[in-house]
Amino acid sequence: MTAPVDVAIVGGGVIGLATAWRAAQRGLSVAVVDQSAGRGASWIAAGMLAPVTEAHYGEEALLGLNLDSAGRYPAFVAELEAASGTSVGYSTSGTLAVALDAGDRAVLAELHAYQQRLGLDSDLLSGRECRTLEPMLAPTVRAGLLVTGDHSVDPRRLTAALHTAGHRAGVRFLEQQATATTSSSVTLADGTTIAAGSVLLAAGCWTPALTGLPGRPVKGHVVRLRGAGFLQRTVRGVVRGFDVYVVPRDDGEVVIGATVEEMGFDTSVRVGCVYELLRDAHELLPGITELELVECGAGLRPGSPDNAPLVGRLADGRFVATGHYRNGILLTPVTADAVTELLAGGQLPAVMAPFSPDRVSAHGTSAAPTATQAGSMR
Ligand code: GLY
Repeated sequence: MTAPVDVAIVGGGVIGLATAWRAAQRGLSVAVVDQSAGRGASWIAAGMLAPVTEAHYGEEALLGLNLDSAGRYPAFVAELEAASGTSVGYSTSGTLAVALDAGDRAVLAELHAYQQRLGLDSDLLSGRECRTLEPMLAPTVRAGLLVTGDHSVDPRRLTAALHTAGHRAGVRFLEQQATATTSSSVTLADGTTIAAGSVLLAAGCWTPALTGLPGRPVKGHVVRLRGAGFLQRTVRGVVRGFDVYVVPRDDGEVVIGATVEEMGFDTSVRVGCVYELLRDAHELLPGITELELVECGAGLRPGSPDNAPLVGRLADGRFVATGHYRNGILLTPVTADAVTELLAGGQLPAVMAPFSPDRVSAHGTSAAPTATQAGSMR
Protein backbone atom coordinates (compact mmCIF):
# COMPACT_ATOMS: atom_id res chain seq x y z
CA MET A 1 0.00 0.00 0.00
CA THR A 2 1.17 3.56 -0.72
CA ALA A 3 -0.25 6.64 1.00
CA PRO A 4 -3.99 7.05 0.25
CA VAL A 5 -5.15 9.93 -1.95
CA ASP A 6 -8.44 11.68 -2.54
CA VAL A 7 -8.27 11.00 -6.28
CA ALA A 8 -6.32 8.42 -8.31
CA ILE A 9 -6.31 9.09 -12.06
CA VAL A 10 -5.42 6.33 -14.51
CA GLY A 11 -4.08 8.05 -17.64
CA GLY A 12 -1.58 10.88 -18.02
CA GLY A 13 -2.73 12.39 -21.31
CA VAL A 14 -4.06 15.93 -21.48
CA ILE A 15 -7.46 14.93 -20.03
CA GLY A 16 -5.96 13.13 -17.01
CA LEU A 17 -3.28 15.78 -16.42
CA ALA A 18 -5.66 18.74 -16.68
CA THR A 19 -8.11 17.06 -14.31
CA ALA A 20 -5.29 16.29 -11.88
CA TRP A 21 -4.19 19.92 -11.89
CA ARG A 22 -7.74 21.24 -11.47
CA ALA A 23 -8.52 18.75 -8.68
CA ALA A 24 -5.29 19.67 -6.85
CA GLN A 25 -6.28 23.33 -7.14
CA ARG A 26 -9.53 22.40 -5.36
CA GLY A 27 -7.49 21.07 -2.45
CA LEU A 28 -7.74 17.36 -3.29
CA SER A 29 -4.71 15.08 -3.00
CA VAL A 30 -4.13 13.50 -6.42
CA ALA A 31 -2.03 10.72 -7.94
CA VAL A 32 -1.68 10.13 -11.71
CA VAL A 33 -0.82 6.60 -12.83
CA ASP A 34 0.73 6.19 -16.28
CA GLN A 35 3.84 4.36 -17.38
CA SER A 36 4.46 6.92 -20.15
CA ALA A 37 2.42 10.03 -19.37
CA GLY A 38 1.75 12.30 -22.32
CA ARG A 39 3.05 9.79 -24.88
CA GLY A 40 -0.31 8.57 -26.20
CA ALA A 41 -2.72 10.48 -28.44
CA SER A 42 -1.66 13.77 -26.80
CA TRP A 43 1.87 13.27 -28.18
CA ILE A 44 0.74 12.81 -31.78
CA ALA A 45 -2.19 15.28 -31.94
CA ALA A 46 -1.79 18.37 -34.13
CA GLY A 47 -3.62 20.53 -31.60
CA MET A 48 -6.35 22.11 -33.70
CA LEU A 49 -9.02 23.85 -31.62
CA ALA A 50 -11.51 23.81 -34.45
CA PRO A 51 -15.16 23.51 -33.41
CA VAL A 52 -16.37 25.26 -36.57
CA THR A 53 -14.23 23.76 -39.35
CA GLU A 54 -14.60 20.30 -37.79
CA ALA A 55 -18.40 20.65 -37.37
CA HIS A 56 -20.32 17.79 -38.95
CA TYR A 57 -23.98 17.57 -39.88
CA GLY A 58 -25.96 15.77 -37.18
CA GLU A 59 -23.37 16.44 -34.45
CA GLU A 60 -24.87 19.70 -33.20
CA ALA A 61 -24.81 18.59 -29.54
CA LEU A 62 -21.10 17.90 -29.78
CA LEU A 63 -20.62 21.26 -31.52
CA GLY A 64 -22.18 22.98 -28.50
CA LEU A 65 -19.71 21.26 -26.17
CA ASN A 66 -16.78 21.99 -28.50
CA LEU A 67 -17.71 25.69 -28.65
CA ASP A 68 -18.01 25.81 -24.87
CA SER A 69 -14.52 24.37 -24.45
CA ALA A 70 -13.04 26.64 -27.14
CA GLY A 71 -14.49 29.58 -25.19
CA ARG A 72 -12.66 28.42 -22.06
CA TYR A 73 -9.28 28.20 -23.81
CA PRO A 74 -7.99 31.79 -23.45
CA ALA A 75 -8.42 31.81 -19.65
CA PHE A 76 -7.25 28.19 -19.35
CA VAL A 77 -4.05 28.97 -21.27
CA ALA A 78 -3.37 32.17 -19.33
CA GLU A 79 -3.79 30.40 -16.00
CA LEU A 80 -1.76 27.36 -17.06
CA GLU A 81 1.10 29.41 -18.49
CA ALA A 82 1.25 31.43 -15.26
CA ALA A 83 1.15 28.27 -13.12
CA SER A 84 3.77 26.39 -15.15
CA GLY A 85 5.99 29.26 -16.29
CA THR A 86 5.97 27.89 -19.86
CA SER A 87 4.23 28.69 -23.14
CA VAL A 88 1.76 26.19 -24.62
CA GLY A 89 2.00 27.58 -28.16
CA TYR A 90 -1.58 28.87 -28.27
CA SER A 91 -2.26 30.47 -31.66
CA THR A 92 -5.36 32.57 -32.37
CA SER A 93 -4.57 33.30 -36.02
CA GLY A 94 -7.51 31.26 -37.34
CA THR A 95 -8.15 28.52 -39.89
CA LEU A 96 -8.62 28.61 -43.66
CA ALA A 97 -10.47 25.70 -45.29
CA VAL A 98 -9.81 25.73 -49.04
CA ALA A 99 -11.36 24.19 -52.15
CA LEU A 100 -9.43 22.93 -55.18
CA ASP A 101 -12.26 22.40 -57.66
CA ALA A 102 -15.86 23.41 -58.36
CA GLY A 103 -17.22 20.42 -56.41
CA ASP A 104 -15.14 21.30 -53.32
CA ARG A 105 -16.23 24.93 -53.69
CA ALA A 106 -19.89 23.87 -53.65
CA VAL A 107 -19.23 21.83 -50.49
CA LEU A 108 -17.59 24.86 -48.82
CA ALA A 109 -20.55 27.08 -49.83
CA GLU A 110 -22.95 24.53 -48.32
CA LEU A 111 -20.83 24.35 -45.15
CA HIS A 112 -20.82 28.14 -44.97
CA ALA A 113 -24.64 28.21 -45.21
CA TYR A 114 -24.86 25.56 -42.46
CA GLN A 115 -22.51 27.59 -40.25
CA GLN A 116 -24.55 30.73 -40.87
CA ARG A 117 -27.73 28.92 -39.83
CA LEU A 118 -26.03 27.91 -36.58
CA GLY A 119 -24.81 31.49 -35.99
CA LEU A 120 -21.13 30.54 -36.40
CA ASP A 121 -18.63 33.07 -37.77
CA SER A 122 -17.04 32.22 -41.13
CA ASP A 123 -16.32 34.10 -44.36
CA LEU A 124 -16.41 32.69 -47.88
CA LEU A 125 -13.36 33.91 -49.85
CA SER A 126 -12.24 33.74 -53.48
CA GLY A 127 -9.08 31.87 -54.44
CA ARG A 128 -7.27 35.18 -54.87
CA GLU A 129 -8.33 36.35 -51.40
CA CYS A 130 -7.07 33.04 -49.96
CA ARG A 131 -3.65 33.50 -51.61
CA THR A 132 -3.44 37.07 -50.30
CA LEU A 133 -3.77 35.63 -46.79
CA GLU A 134 -1.56 32.59 -47.45
CA PRO A 135 0.81 33.18 -50.40
CA MET A 136 2.08 29.57 -50.32
CA LEU A 137 -1.33 28.22 -51.43
CA ALA A 138 -1.46 26.55 -54.83
CA PRO A 139 -2.68 28.65 -57.77
CA THR A 140 -5.37 25.98 -58.23
CA VAL A 141 -7.12 26.92 -54.96
CA ARG A 142 -10.57 28.15 -56.07
CA ALA A 143 -12.15 29.34 -52.82
CA GLY A 144 -11.86 29.23 -49.07
CA LEU A 145 -13.73 29.53 -45.81
CA LEU A 146 -11.97 31.69 -43.23
CA VAL A 147 -12.82 30.86 -39.61
CA THR A 148 -11.01 33.29 -37.34
CA GLY A 149 -12.38 31.58 -34.22
CA ASP A 150 -10.75 28.18 -34.91
CA HIS A 151 -7.38 28.23 -33.15
CA SER A 152 -4.57 25.81 -32.26
CA VAL A 153 -2.27 24.84 -29.42
CA ASP A 154 0.89 22.72 -29.22
CA PRO A 155 -0.24 19.51 -27.45
CA ARG A 156 3.32 18.57 -26.44
CA ARG A 157 3.91 21.93 -24.79
CA LEU A 158 0.41 21.75 -23.30
CA THR A 159 1.18 18.34 -21.79
CA ALA A 160 4.51 19.53 -20.37
CA ALA A 161 2.87 22.62 -18.87
CA LEU A 162 0.08 20.54 -17.29
CA HIS A 163 2.67 18.19 -15.82
CA THR A 164 4.63 21.09 -14.31
CA ALA A 165 1.51 22.86 -13.04
CA GLY A 166 0.24 19.61 -11.53
CA HIS A 167 3.58 18.90 -9.90
CA ARG A 168 3.68 22.41 -8.42
CA ALA A 169 0.12 21.93 -7.11
CA GLY A 170 1.15 18.72 -5.33
CA VAL A 171 0.07 16.01 -7.81
CA ARG A 172 2.03 12.72 -7.45
CA PHE A 173 3.06 10.97 -10.66
CA LEU A 174 3.46 7.19 -10.62
CA GLU A 175 5.22 5.85 -13.73
CA GLN A 176 3.55 2.48 -13.78
CA GLN A 177 0.79 0.58 -15.50
CA ALA A 178 -2.50 0.16 -13.63
CA THR A 179 -3.44 -3.52 -13.58
CA ALA A 180 -6.76 -3.30 -11.72
CA THR A 181 -9.13 -0.62 -10.46
CA THR A 182 -12.13 -0.39 -8.17
CA SER A 183 -14.10 2.67 -7.07
CA SER A 184 -11.62 3.11 -4.21
CA SER A 185 -8.31 1.64 -5.35
CA VAL A 186 -5.80 1.30 -8.16
CA THR A 187 -3.41 -1.65 -8.27
CA LEU A 188 -0.08 -1.07 -9.99
CA ALA A 189 2.08 -3.43 -12.04
CA ASP A 190 4.54 -3.83 -9.13
CA GLY A 191 1.70 -5.12 -6.94
CA THR A 192 1.24 -2.03 -4.77
CA THR A 193 -2.24 -0.67 -4.27
CA ILE A 194 -3.25 2.98 -3.92
CA ALA A 195 -6.32 3.57 -1.81
CA ALA A 196 -8.33 6.50 -3.18
CA GLY A 197 -11.50 8.36 -2.30
CA SER A 198 -12.31 8.39 -6.04
CA VAL A 199 -10.85 6.70 -9.11
CA LEU A 200 -10.94 8.34 -12.55
CA LEU A 201 -10.25 6.36 -15.71
CA ALA A 202 -8.88 8.69 -18.39
CA ALA A 203 -6.76 6.27 -20.37
CA GLY A 204 -7.90 7.25 -23.87
CA CYS A 205 -8.53 4.30 -26.17
CA TRP A 206 -7.47 1.87 -23.42
CA THR A 207 -10.37 2.97 -21.19
CA PRO A 208 -12.96 0.55 -22.69
CA ALA A 209 -10.76 -2.40 -21.64
CA LEU A 210 -10.78 -1.05 -18.07
CA THR A 211 -14.51 -0.29 -17.95
CA GLY A 212 -16.44 -2.45 -20.42
CA LEU A 213 -17.66 0.72 -22.14
CA PRO A 214 -17.91 0.53 -25.92
CA GLY A 215 -15.10 2.22 -27.83
CA ARG A 216 -12.32 1.67 -30.31
CA PRO A 217 -8.94 3.10 -31.25
CA VAL A 218 -8.96 5.21 -34.45
CA LYS A 219 -5.49 5.52 -35.87
CA GLY A 220 -4.16 8.81 -37.22
CA HIS A 221 -0.86 9.30 -39.04
CA VAL A 222 0.76 12.73 -38.60
CA VAL A 223 3.89 14.21 -40.23
CA ARG A 224 5.96 16.93 -38.58
CA LEU A 225 8.01 19.38 -40.67
CA ARG A 226 10.01 22.51 -39.92
CA GLY A 227 9.66 25.77 -41.81
CA ALA A 228 9.35 29.11 -40.03
CA GLY A 229 6.90 31.54 -41.62
CA PHE A 230 5.54 28.98 -44.10
CA LEU A 231 1.92 29.64 -43.06
CA GLN A 232 0.21 32.21 -40.84
CA ARG A 233 -2.76 30.04 -39.91
CA THR A 234 -4.04 26.46 -40.15
CA VAL A 235 -4.91 25.48 -43.73
CA ARG A 236 -7.09 22.52 -44.52
CA GLY A 237 -8.83 21.02 -47.52
CA VAL A 238 -10.32 17.91 -49.03
CA VAL A 239 -8.06 16.23 -51.59
CA ARG A 240 -9.37 13.17 -53.47
CA GLY A 241 -12.09 12.89 -50.85
CA PHE A 242 -9.67 12.88 -47.89
CA ASP A 243 -9.30 15.65 -45.31
CA VAL A 244 -5.82 17.05 -44.88
CA TYR A 245 -4.77 19.84 -42.54
CA VAL A 246 -1.54 21.77 -42.07
CA VAL A 247 -0.98 23.46 -38.71
CA PRO A 248 1.87 25.99 -38.28
CA ARG A 249 3.41 26.86 -34.92
CA ASP A 250 5.22 29.94 -33.68
CA ASP A 251 8.41 27.88 -33.17
CA GLY A 252 8.56 26.89 -36.86
CA GLU A 253 6.97 23.45 -36.57
CA VAL A 254 4.45 22.57 -39.29
CA VAL A 255 2.18 19.57 -38.61
CA ILE A 256 0.35 17.68 -41.37
CA GLY A 257 -2.51 15.36 -40.47
CA ALA A 258 -4.22 13.04 -40.38
CA THR A 259 -5.39 9.67 -41.56
CA VAL A 260 -8.49 8.09 -40.00
CA GLU A 261 -8.00 4.32 -39.83
CA GLU A 262 -9.67 1.49 -37.93
CA MET A 263 -6.65 -0.78 -37.37
CA GLY A 264 -7.02 -1.81 -33.74
CA PHE A 265 -4.10 -0.99 -31.43
CA ASP A 266 -1.56 -0.65 -34.24
CA THR A 267 0.68 2.45 -34.07
CA SER A 268 3.17 1.40 -36.75
CA VAL A 269 4.04 4.14 -39.22
CA ARG A 270 3.18 3.09 -42.80
CA VAL A 271 5.02 4.53 -45.79
CA GLY A 272 1.83 4.66 -47.88
CA CYS A 273 -0.01 6.78 -45.30
CA VAL A 274 2.89 9.23 -44.95
CA TYR A 275 3.15 9.43 -48.75
CA GLU A 276 -0.57 10.17 -49.12
CA LEU A 277 -0.52 12.89 -46.44
CA LEU A 278 2.48 14.60 -48.06
CA ARG A 279 0.99 14.21 -51.55
CA ASP A 280 -2.34 15.75 -50.49
CA ALA A 281 -0.71 18.56 -48.50
CA HIS A 282 1.49 19.24 -51.54
CA GLU A 283 -1.62 19.76 -53.69
CA LEU A 284 -2.72 22.54 -51.36
CA LEU A 285 0.76 23.93 -50.64
CA PRO A 286 3.34 22.94 -53.30
CA GLY A 287 6.18 24.61 -51.39
CA ILE A 288 5.87 22.02 -48.64
CA THR A 289 8.58 19.93 -50.33
CA GLU A 290 11.13 22.63 -49.40
CA LEU A 291 10.58 22.13 -45.66
CA GLU A 292 12.64 19.93 -43.36
CA LEU A 293 11.10 16.54 -42.51
CA VAL A 294 11.30 16.09 -38.73
CA GLU A 295 9.06 13.20 -37.69
CA CYS A 296 6.40 10.76 -38.87
CA GLY A 297 4.14 9.23 -36.24
CA ALA A 298 0.83 7.54 -35.61
CA GLY A 299 -1.50 7.77 -32.62
CA LEU A 300 -4.81 6.29 -31.50
CA ARG A 301 -7.85 8.51 -31.02
CA PRO A 302 -10.30 7.20 -28.42
CA GLY A 303 -13.43 6.57 -30.51
CA SER A 304 -16.91 6.18 -28.99
CA PRO A 305 -20.10 4.85 -30.59
CA ASP A 306 -21.37 8.36 -31.46
CA ASN A 307 -18.00 10.15 -31.69
CA ALA A 308 -18.81 12.12 -28.55
CA PRO A 309 -17.08 11.88 -25.16
CA LEU A 310 -18.12 9.67 -22.25
CA VAL A 311 -17.71 11.70 -19.06
CA GLY A 312 -19.27 10.94 -15.69
CA ARG A 313 -19.75 8.24 -13.11
CA LEU A 314 -20.16 4.55 -13.87
CA ALA A 315 -22.68 2.35 -12.07
CA ASP A 316 -19.81 0.76 -10.08
CA GLY A 317 -18.76 4.14 -8.68
CA ARG A 318 -15.65 4.72 -10.78
CA PHE A 319 -15.43 7.94 -12.79
CA VAL A 320 -14.61 8.05 -16.48
CA ALA A 321 -13.45 10.63 -19.04
CA THR A 322 -12.87 9.10 -22.46
CA GLY A 323 -14.20 8.89 -26.03
CA HIS A 324 -12.99 12.36 -27.03
CA TYR A 325 -12.17 11.01 -30.51
CA ARG A 326 -11.05 13.93 -32.75
CA ASN A 327 -11.51 16.60 -30.06
CA GLY A 328 -9.42 15.59 -27.06
CA ILE A 329 -7.17 18.65 -27.05
CA LEU A 330 -10.11 20.99 -27.68
CA LEU A 331 -12.28 19.37 -24.98
CA THR A 332 -9.58 19.37 -22.29
CA PRO A 333 -10.69 22.51 -20.37
CA VAL A 334 -14.41 21.69 -20.23
CA THR A 335 -13.74 18.03 -19.39
CA ALA A 336 -11.28 18.85 -16.61
CA ASP A 337 -13.68 21.38 -15.10
CA ALA A 338 -16.66 19.01 -15.30
CA VAL A 339 -14.84 16.00 -13.85
CA THR A 340 -13.28 18.07 -11.07
CA GLU A 341 -16.76 19.22 -10.07
CA LEU A 342 -17.80 15.57 -9.79
CA LEU A 343 -14.66 14.56 -7.90
CA ALA A 344 -15.23 17.41 -5.45
CA GLY A 345 -18.70 15.99 -4.67
CA GLY A 346 -20.79 18.09 -7.06
CA GLN A 347 -22.99 17.24 -10.04
CA LEU A 348 -21.94 16.84 -13.67
CA PRO A 349 -22.36 20.41 -15.04
CA ALA A 350 -25.28 20.93 -17.46
CA VAL A 351 -22.99 21.37 -20.47
CA MET A 352 -21.54 17.88 -19.93
CA ALA A 353 -24.71 16.12 -18.73
CA PRO A 354 -25.69 14.85 -22.23
CA PHE A 355 -22.28 13.14 -22.50
CA SER A 356 -22.62 10.92 -19.43
CA PRO A 357 -21.71 7.25 -20.00
CA ASP A 358 -25.32 6.41 -19.09
CA ARG A 359 -26.22 6.92 -22.75
CA VAL A 360 -24.27 3.87 -23.90
CA SER A 361 -24.62 0.32 -22.74
CA ALA A 362 -21.73 -2.06 -22.26
CA HIS A 363 -22.98 -3.77 -25.46
CA GLY A 364 -22.14 -0.86 -27.70
CA THR A 365 -25.57 0.63 -28.39
CA SER A 366 -25.90 4.35 -28.04
CA ALA A 367 -28.31 7.21 -28.27
CA ALA A 368 -26.55 10.34 -29.49
CA PRO A 369 -27.44 13.42 -27.45
CA THR A 370 -29.67 15.93 -29.18
CA ALA A 371 -28.91 19.59 -29.79
CA THR A 372 -31.54 20.60 -27.24
CA GLN A 373 -29.93 18.48 -24.54
CA ALA A 374 -26.59 20.20 -25.08
CA GLY A 375 -28.04 23.69 -24.95
CA SER A 376 -27.76 26.51 -27.46
CA MET A 377 -24.97 26.65 -30.00
CA ARG A 378 -24.01 30.22 -29.33
N1 GLY B 1 -8.87 16.65 -34.80
C1 GLY B 1 -8.04 16.20 -35.83
C2 GLY B 1 -7.87 14.76 -35.93
O1 GLY B 1 -8.34 14.01 -35.10
O2 GLY B 1 -7.26 14.34 -36.87
